[in-house]
Amino acid sequence: MPIEPATQTSIDNAAKVLADGGVVAFPTETVYGLGADATNADAVVHVYEMKGRPRFNPLIAHVADIETAGSHGEFNAMARKLAEAFWPGPLTMVLKKRSKSNICDLVSAGLETIALRVPANEIARSLLRAAGCPVAAPSANKAGHVSPTTAAHVKADLGEGPDIILDGGDTALGLESTVVDVSGPEPLLLRPGGIPREDIEHIFGVKLADATNANQPTSPGQLASHYAPRARLRLDATSLAPGETLLAFGPNPLKRENSMVNLSPRGDIREAATRLFAALRELDASGCEGIAVMPIPDEGLGEAINDRLRRAAAPRSK
Ligand code: TXA
Ligand code: MG
Repeated sequence: MPIEPATQTSIDNAAKVLADGGVVAFPTETVYGLGADATNADAVVHVYEMKGRPRFNPLIAHVADIETAGSHGEFNAMARKLAEAFWPGPLTMVLKKRSKSNICDLVSAGLETIALRVPANEIARSLLRAAGCPVAAPSANKAGHVSPTTAAHVKADLGEGPDIILDGGDTALGLESTVVDVSGPEPLLLRPGGIPREDIEHIFGVKLADATNANQPTSPGQLASHYAPRARLRLDATSLAPGETLLAFGPNPLKRENSMVNLSPRGDIREAATRLFAALRELDASGCEGIAVMPIPDEGLGEAINDRLRRAAAPRSK
């Protein structure tokens, strides 16, 4: 039974597992990660395999503090500003990888850049300190599926795969980190996430370009169909079709005879973010075929919520 409540003892034990080349699922403030020693290519291969993730899609290296991040990525003025403002926290920065970094090429999928994050969750921080190595960790779900916000979600997706699943309860934010590429002349938003775009624009004093709009390659992970439950999603629904289940937001859900999950009856976008992935899993478990999603405001965390919903609604490759 690999789920273990996170205590100092289980965290220390998990750190040893990492040092021995094992795979550990652990909570962060965004979603659960599936971690391996980022300097150990054999261990990192297991992460790709367990997730069923294509090798061209690079992983985030998690480190305990800004100083350690600086030994793996080249910090320019933009990166320093963002690190100061948002680390530890739900921000991932893509930086030029330092030639002396011992993170293996498999983590960055052979790119010259490396994605780095200093998470804020205390269990994650304590694991990173105890492990003493950078930890490569994608979200701990099967590739293309919804990210896990509880240890039980990890277990449901990956079964006995991980050597340990550290249980730290529900994640605080419920959405993945915001990914910003600061390796070029201007910052690019690669993935909206836990830090709203507006907060980053406030730090830079300029609008943030989107990777998709810029003349730059998109983040390899930005595949159209992603974060996908089994049921079909219909976005911006203003009415309900027969048989559809409602994914509602706010105090005035659509009139219905069908069942419903409300992301936030009081219309709080933060609460909606924490509930989104669990709600999609819950709706799937109910066996419903179609999910009608009410419109969700696109400001703040709403941008990331709508991004995930669009991907969940995109046509599937299989
Ligand atoms: O909140 C999170 O970010 C969680 C927790 C566990 O930290 N992790 C997570 O990892 O969501 P993952 O692998 O599911 O998403 C990482 C994203 C992918 O879209 C990947 O393509 C992008 O970061 N990425 C990683 N390295 C990159 C690089 N060098 N250049 C561009 N994009 C990169
Ligand atoms: Mg993921």
